[in-house]
Amino acid sequence: MCGIVGYVGPRQSQDILVAGLARLEYRGYDSAGIAVIDESGTLGMRKRAGKLSALREALETDPIGGGTTGIGHTRWATHGGPTDENAHPHLADDDRLAVIHNGIIENFSDLKAELVAEGVAFRSETDTEVAAALLAREYRANGGDLVGAFRGVVHRLDGAFTLLATHEDHPGLVVGARRNSPLVIGLGEGENFLGSDVAAFVEHTRRALAIGQDEIVAITPDDVAVTDFDGNPVQPSPFEVSWDASAADKGGWSSFMAKEVSEEPEAVANTVLGRIRDGRVVIPELDGLDELFADITRIVILGAGTAAYAGLVGKYAIEQWARIPVEVELAHEFRYRDPLVGPDTLVISISQSGETMDTLMAIKEAARLGAKTLSICNTQGATIPRESDAIVYTHAGPEVAVASTKAFVAQITALYLFALHLGRVRGSLSEEDAAAAVTQLDELPAKIQWILENEQERIEHLAHWMADTRSVLFLGRHVGYPIALEGALKLKELSYIHAEGFAAGELKHGPIALIEPGQPVFVVVPSPGGAPTLHAKVVSNIQEIRARGARVIAIAEQGDSAVLPHADEVLRIPLASPLFEPILAVVPLHIFAMGLATAKGLDVDQPRNLAKSVTVE
Ligand code: AGP
Repeated sequence: MCGIVGYVGPRQSQDILVAGLARLEYRGYDSAGIAVIDESGTLGMRKRAGKLSALREALETDPIGGGTTGIGHTRWATHGGPTDENAHPHLADDDRLAVIHNGIIENFSDLKAELVAEGVAFRSETDTEVAAALLAREYRANGGDLVGAFRGVVHRLDGAFTLLATHEDHPGLVVGARRNSPLVIGLGEGENFLGSDVAAFVEHTRRALAIGQDEIVAITPDDVAVTDFDGNPVQPSPFEVSWDASAADKGGWSSFMAKEVSEEPEAVANTVLGRIRDGRVVIPELDGLDELFADITRIVILGAGTAAYAGLVGKYAIEQWARIPVEVELAHEFRYRDPLVGPDTLVISISQSGETMDTLMAIKEAARLGAKTLSICNTQGATIPRESDAIVYTHAGPEVAVASTKAFVAQITALYLFALHLGRVRGSLSEEDAAAAVTQLDELPAKIQWILENEQERIEHLAHWMADTRSVLFLGRHVGYPIALEGALKLKELSYIHAEGFAAGELKHGPIALIEPGQPVFVVVPSPGGAPTLHAKVVSNIQEIRARGARVIAIAEQGDSAVLPHADEVLRIPLASPLFEPILAVVPLHIFAMGLATAKGLDVDQPRNLAKSVTVE
């Protein structure tokens, strides 16, 4: 998920672009760049890997001549690591055309091969540079019509894209197109803006136009023209931005965590995007690596904190679909226990940052012992994926808040995709079961969105009333047990109160001694339809703790009436097959932890004593 900004008007565009990128940096921050048509009519471009400060430094030491037309981009790498070359903008047409992109062009490899066969030389590994070369070819073929060039190109692109371009033949013009990726227009006085969201321009104008799916927009200082991909005029819908620039850093949200919880549907959808073709899971990053997995007889999943809990959920899916035994271990424990792994073992590391030292050192130890390694990571080009034999990236976008939320649901999604891939490769998964799982995956984003729209307010209200709580327990069984652990961790790290997760079956082996009148206990309730035996067991657990005075908050699927007589509160989630319930059940727990910390006036983005990535042991 990248940040995009465009400007045309009477003012110097460089400062406007860089300031816009600063407000979008939360969307992606591994590289940044701008392209400006300067006062001599020449296209100038500067781009640097690293934070926006690296670009600012480049512009100070090697400034672009002033100019009033430009585009800017801050990147969250998907194709190609975070390097200067892979940073946007990408140039084409003898460096007279500049292009920036947010999204994933799924068929870029085929398009690149077509262009290479025509003699086009590429300087980067990105899908964006392929789009730039296609636009240049169309632009030359149609005699210099940039909007026409877009119309010729967009029909050839599969996947998700927001593209912006400017050409030195056309000072005062920026053209953009979008499919499955955001783009909005900011309307100024004698100037106009484009942005991946309104944060890009809200300090200049709050008047905006939403661009719809499969539309092309051309902005000049005095005009905005929107058409569909076939050139038919479209009237975009106007809206007024409801918040001011100061909130723009978080896209209008009260915290990065609030924004990232709201993006959980998108994180799952983007992690699946491009990996299901004709109803089957296809993971391009694993093409040609089937040999790597052919001889494995066991899998060990490593991670720390929330990432480890995602592994505990993934274990169930891999064992069910790929029929391989899976152990899940804390990376920092694995490394020092003289682990028994070797060539027959696949060690899967899970890490949002890809820089967690405990996890990095553990997979290095596993590799030293001859194991094969696969990285599930959210950060393109990070150390852990670079050290691994294979990679399956999550596409949750930048996760800025220390508490991991959208990355967690994306990690489970990536593990499920891998489990389905492995099941197909090993012939252990029926076409029917694979199709059913793919359907469940496709339905997840809308189901998470339902929770956000229908339960979030009630959960925040509950958190407010529990602000003085000193201890909360979490119970779950089977795939619900890791969710109990994750719910406890989120509450601990955000609100600094005691919180502990247990396997519900463990209650009578000790933890039930903790139950006293008023003790709040969250219980993740299995689906009565999908897992009736487990459901009955957990309802029985609820009765046991309620009989001892516990205050029970049940997370149960819509229509589950069995919990009603025994729970003080019931938080609802949509129906899903048992293996897919965890991705839904965790959302209320993320919302609750954030709500209670907020009620206590704590910083939900940067909790005390913690760092986003623990790069020391
Ligand atoms: C999760 O909310 C915590 N911030 C922490 O447990 C985190 O998941 C853990 O440090 C692993 O980080 P990683 O995914 O970047 O490796």
